[in-house]
Amino acid sequence: MIHTPTILLVEPTFYDVSYSINPWMDPDAWARDPRGMHRDAMQSFDALRTALGRAGFTVEVAAGAPGLPDMVFPANAAVVLDGRALLARFRYPQRRGEEAPFAQIFDALRERGLLDDVALLPEGCFQEGAGDCIWDAGRGHFWAGFGPRSSHGAATAVSEFFGKEVVALELATEQSYHLDVCFCPLSGGEILYYPPAFSEASLRALRARLPARLRIEASADDLRHFSVNAVNLDDQVVMTRTTPHLRTELGRRGYQLHEVDLTPFMLSGGGAYCMTLRLDRSSGPGIAAAAA
Ligand code: ARG
Repeated sequence: MIHTPTILLVEPTFYDVSYSINPWMDPDAWARDPRGMHRDAMQSFDALRTALGRAGFTVEVAAGAPGLPDMVFPANAAVVLDGRALLARFRYPQRRGEEAPFAQIFDALRERGLLDDVALLPEGCFQEGAGDCIWDAGRGHFWAGFGPRSSHGAATAVSEFFGKEVVALELATEQSYHLDVCFCPLSGGEILYYPPAFSEASLRALRARLPARLRIEASADDLRHFSVNAVNLDDQVVMTRTTPHLRTELGRRGYQLHEVDLTPFMLSGGGAYCMTLRLDRSSGPGIAAAAA
């Protein structure tokens, strides 16, 4: 496995918004100017790649495939921890075709030594990758979203595969169809989250694990900007062009923001985090801590 911050992106060559499987997706807006939209998407992608590099990541870029526009969201392709990738199973037929090309991408990463193991999820559940199963490095467990996309049972499958605790949170709205739309753990222990996204029981469970000083509550405006869907590395945060609220709140807590215009991808219901997949996530103490 790889031990330095490394993140996977998928090139938007075949990206478009041609169907709708979440309430943010707007195929009509795309269809009004497909060439212009595609050009903007390529530019946004380059800006994201540059911002991730500045934030300290090595960026791996894989090719997409024709007819599978949502491959640009590799966060949904697998859960990766300790060099092991557990491949996703998508709920909607529109995205199921991504499973085979992503399996090839992960096999190629294994052949290059970036991963040790690539495995299939047991039958009978849906699980949409790191978008719905987020590793919390400080707490040493996963947070899993279930409801609109991933099944509740997937949390058990992930927990058994990685041998780690998985705290399952029920997503109560279609607007927050993946956990990463409404939930983001940060390196300082804070969690940025949008309370109305969760069922009452899950919100209680979440708050029970989180002292008030570590809660950063996102507003509906923050959610609409896809700002909760952020990539964090130490004090660096890569996100869509954000709101005054989050600029102030994250700045006050010592985070440095890299804001990228990701409008063409927001038209598909995505922001920075879901366009990426960390390949180096580790449940160990990390190199710096181990060396100290
Ligand atoms: N159009 C994609 C879908 O609905 C967007 C996925 C964004 N990914 C995410 N992890 N939020 O599946």
